Amino acid sequence: MQRLVGKVALVTGSGRQGGLGAAIASRLSEEGAAVVVTDLPTGDQDIPADRVGSESELEAIAAAIRASGGRALSHPLDVREEATVIAAIDYTVKEFGGLDILINNAGIGFMMEPLVDMPIARWRTVLDVNLTGAFLCTQHASRQMIAQGRGGRIINIASVAAKSGSVHLAAYAASKHGMIGLTRSAAIELGAHQITVNAVCPNHVTTGLGAVQNNYRAAQRGQTVDEYLAEMRGRIPLGRVGLATDTAKACAFLCSEEAAYITGEAMNVSGGQEMH
Ligand SMILES: NC(=O)c1ccc[n+]([C@@H]2O[C@H](COP(=O)([O-])OP(=O)(O)OC[C@H]3O[C@@H](n4cnc5c(N)ncnc54)[C@H](O)[C@@H]3O)[C@@H](O)[C@H]2O)c1
Repeated sequence: MQRLVGKVALVTGSGRQGGLGAAIASRLSEEGAAVVVTDLPTGDQDIPADRVGSESELEAIAAAIRASGGRALSHPLDVREEATVIAAIDYTVKEFGGLDILINNAGIGFMMEPLVDMPIARWRTVLDVNLTGAFLCTQHASRQMIAQGRGGRIINIASVAAKSGSVHLAAYAASKHGMIGLTRSAAIELGAHQITVNAVCPNHVTTGLGAVQNNYRAAQRGQTVDEYLAEMRGRIPLGRVGLATDTAKACAFLCSEEAAYITGEAMNVSGGQEMH
């Protein structure tokens, strides 16, 4: 399908191999969009390097899209740093002539610990990246979209943890619940500009982030990761865990003209695991 020809998209946190962001960027490109793949610059002090994408992965993901015939560029963007948000949007507009789609995908979910032990600094880091980062990107992208006057699409990659609590992931779940509040509020304010704002709520996908959660949960239960995943599959009506492409397909739909009248939604992509 080529539903996004002529559109320009920026995807945050899309510079990690196997991640949802990379899959979303590829799918939007397959549908005809020009894509700017962005991620945290290498060398960030707060977040361990083995938990995030690297500059070489970032450029490799953009290069792979170009190799398959798409239009893609890479640019550093730390969603906590307003200057880098503005710079990445300016770059997108300069290189591709505008911005029609923002995917707020950047997120961290590897800091797992009991609520009673969680240092305030870790709580703040998670909220800063997952929620405040999405706010900053939404604010600057929507200013650009409003100035262009041709509508737009903003999609927040939330989680099933945006709808239910999650053991030893209090900050993560709070940030993802917050993303839904941001989605609904932004949808109301931006509707007059024909900018739709929706959230997508995936269940488990075995990405870099997902693998850390699997290891932690399996150890907590005294299981192997395979045993833990088998148990998880048993709780999912469609009988398998999520794939990055499941989320990417949902995003492509929400970015398309077919979804022009859908805004303020928090759409589960969870094989039926989450139903409200
Ligand atoms: N994997 C899952 O099971 C799952 C389920 C539901 C939702 N999600 C959400 O999907 C999104 C992508 O996660 P993923 O599973 O692909 O993990 P991932 O670790 O592969 O991707 C997260 C990306 O965010 C980037 N990032 C981290 N801090 C950043 C910052 N300050 N600025 C910019 N980028 C930053 C990382 O470098 C990485 O590329 C996240 O928001 C996550 O919460 C994941």
